[in-house]
Amino acid sequence: MSGPLLLAVESSCDETGVALVEDGRRVHANVVASQVALHAPTGGIVPEVAARAHLRWIVPVLDEAMATAGVTMDDVDAVAVTYGPGLAGSLLVGINFAKTLAWAHGKPLVPVNHLEGHVYAGWLLDPGEADKEAPPFPLVALVVSGGHTFLVEMRDHLDYRLLGTTVDDAAGEAFDKVGRLLGLGYPGGPAISKAADTAVAHDRVFPRAWLPDTYDLSFSGLKTAARRIVARARTDEGLPADEREGGTLADPVVAELAWGFQDSVVDVLATKTIRAAEAIGARGIVLGGGVAANAALRARIAGEAEARGIAMVIPRPGLCTDNGAMIGAAGARRLAAGVRAGLVLDARPSLPLAR
Ligand code: KG4
Ligand code: ZN
Repeated sequence: MSGPLLLAVESSCDETGVALVEDGRRVHANVVASQVALHAPTGGIVPEVAARAHLRWIVPVLDEAMATAGVTMDDVDAVAVTYGPGLAGSLLVGINFAKTLAWAHGKPLVPVNHLEGHVYAGWLLDPGEADKEAPPFPLVALVVSGGHTFLVEMRDHLDYRLLGTTVDDAAGEAFDKVGRLLGLGYPGGPAISKAADTAVAHDRVFPRAWLPDTYDLSFSGLKTAARRIVARARTDEGLPADEREGGTLADPVVAELAWGFQDSVVDVLATKTIRAAEAIGARGIVLGGGVAANAALRARIAGEAEARGIAMVIPRPGLCTDNGAMIGAAGARRLAAGVRAGLVLDARPSLPLAR
């Protein structure tokens, strides 16, 4: 081992993740139990259902991660855990689990922000992957997930300056909403990307919210426009305007609409990211979050970064969506910086309203 071995726990949303990461970079195991199938029938996450599934899966996920890495708790130097942002019930499962492990085995506990986890996925190396350069500073990181969308400048480790953020919905939320409108199910992102790839015509143009002179972003107008555009496409095909009244659009039309929507999101995200990178003189761009798994977004930003001589780091799709390894990567930096969480399990079943 060339650096500390972290056991990292992620449970903020609908993936239960436990990973073993060496020195903030080398992944030894990264086990994720996804709840996607569990939440598909409701078309979205029911928080209580998510929390129960974390409880059900966290121990088996830990066991599999330890077995895959071939280590015991004696080999682990610290425990890292996502402490927010996320769903309260889901976070609580992972945090209490991590605190218990840290207490029982006498390890330091490192609290990690889920969003910095998405940024630090850019530093990870898979088992067996050749060593490669770490993302160079200064850099611009674009985090695009189901709950968050923002651009941040980093001049050094753990040094974040927010450049811009969505003023309303996250990009992933828009993908999920439009996926539902198009009858593509949940989650919408991967389904829209797949449908868009099959589009033959590329002339259905969706609006772009440019919000000039800022790095802020907005997707709620696009969501509303998508509802209008899909309704018109449906009536053109002789279907009721509202998708809840039944009837499905033909696959080629769905593909064209999916392409038009995706092109709008990709265009805005890529344009703002490149503009921000140029403005701060970035040597690198890092992409993270579930929407960074989108092939069209990856290709567009990679092409534009290369043309400008900016190093582009996009983790493989499995490291863009929620996972424990990214928490281990950020956790190692926090461990080195001396950041620690207390071990008190401070839930209070009985608590007077007055302080
Ligand atoms: O980061 P993530 O796994 O969870 C959150 O922290 O929110 O992101 C999930 C989001 C979902 O909205 C999902 O639709 C989107 O990422 N997503 C994608 C793709 N894969 C996942 N969006 C566009 N294209 C994809 N290939
Ligand atoms: Zn996430």
